[in-house]
Amino acid sequence: MKKCIKDIKIKNKTVIIRCDFNVPLKNGKIMDNTRIVKSLETIKYSIKENAKIILLSHLGRVKTEEDKKDKSLKPVAKELEKLLNQKVVFVEATRGDQVEEKVRALKPGEVLLLENTRFEDIEGKCESGNDQELGAYWASLADVFVNDAFGTAHRAHASNVGIASNIKISCIGFLIEKELIALEELNRPDKPFIVILGGSKVGDKIGVIENIVEKADKILIGGGMAFTFLKAEGYEIGNSLCDSEHLSFCEKMTTKYPEKIILPVDVKVTSEFSNDTPLVEKDIDELDFNDMGLDIGTNTVEVFKNYLKDAALVLWNGPLGVYEFENYKQGTDQILNTLADSKIKTILGGGDIVAAAQNANVADKIYHISTGGGATLEYLEGKALPGIEAIK
Ligand code: 3PG
Repeated sequence: MKKCIKDIKIKNKTVIIRCDFNVPLKNGKIMDNTRIVKSLETIKYSIKENAKIILLSHLGRVKTEEDKKDKSLKPVAKELEKLLNQKVVFVEATRGDQVEEKVRALKPGEVLLLENTRFEDIEGKCESGNDQELGAYWASLADVFVNDAFGTAHRAHASNVGIASNIKISCIGFLIEKELIALEELNRPDKPFIVILGGSKVGDKIGVIENIVEKADKILIGGGMAFTFLKAEGYEIGNSLCDSEHLSFCEKMTTKYPEKIILPVDVKVTSEFSNDTPLVEKDIDELDFNDMGLDIGTNTVEVFKNYLKDAALVLWNGPLGVYEFENYKQGTDQILNTLADSKIKTILGGGDIVAAAQNANVADKIYHISTGGGATLEYLEGKALPGIEAIK
């Protein structure tokens, strides 16, 4: 494990902390502050240690001057002030005199947030292209670099890899430490270890399936991706989603692991992609050419619950139905509730299933909710995360 902030002396030092404040914004309003809340432990610890704190984050993707309009971190500074109950100085710049002046003026325990690091992408992709000069510049502002942006760990940016490569002392924050401790449990999983996979495309999950199939006792498959598996098994799937490019992958998996890969036995179908057209439940051998499956059925929920009842560890990525539609969220919600009401260690990874857990009000009862979308998926695929590798 990399050194954590608590293993480093930061008292009275200037620390530059890379957070992932890439939160959903609508008309300047933060729609979900989970990532900000999860960053608080490291920030509060640094305040308590009397460090001078510089915070960095990206927000969205910034390609043009126009993109800058709704991608400022100013609302995040306001939210942080509320959550920390102290002033957060916001600098509307990412480098230059204004930044340096504010950094010089910082007193122990004070917090400064720089503008969206990806504003540096407009000319020459300096942030996302890990421009050496930019990384070295941010590193020059501080004594210690703390990377706490797990959600961005799969990116090699100037604000994570660049700073870490240009500063003597670097470490991870409490958020990344928690993520790694939980996710590392998947490498030597308590048994039985059950994986639940949903979401629309098989193509997005191939790396995860290949990396996890030997360790898992069962892989329960739902969501749109289940239909590609069902079609590969020879079932009529009508107008349900089919990731044709990956039919042969599905066939290979179900042939090699027939006992391990568990597919729906029934589904909720309708005639078009809508919450309002009439729905019926059908066994998977009853689908017509014009049926569109949008959720797992009642019997499948029972089958999945049955596998889950003895589980020691569960990893879940991707909803089991079209979660945005009231009529097709039941499968996901019922399984989420089952897990939340049990003692099973459940790890939820990837944005959609995390949002589903929050909507279902069960997030607090889940063992670990990963803050990473792409980063969690890449970790589950067994890939190294450059933002973490770069920490000395
Ligand atoms: C995320 O939300 O997955 C991270 O913040 C990374 O964002 P990105 O996909 O725009 O690089």
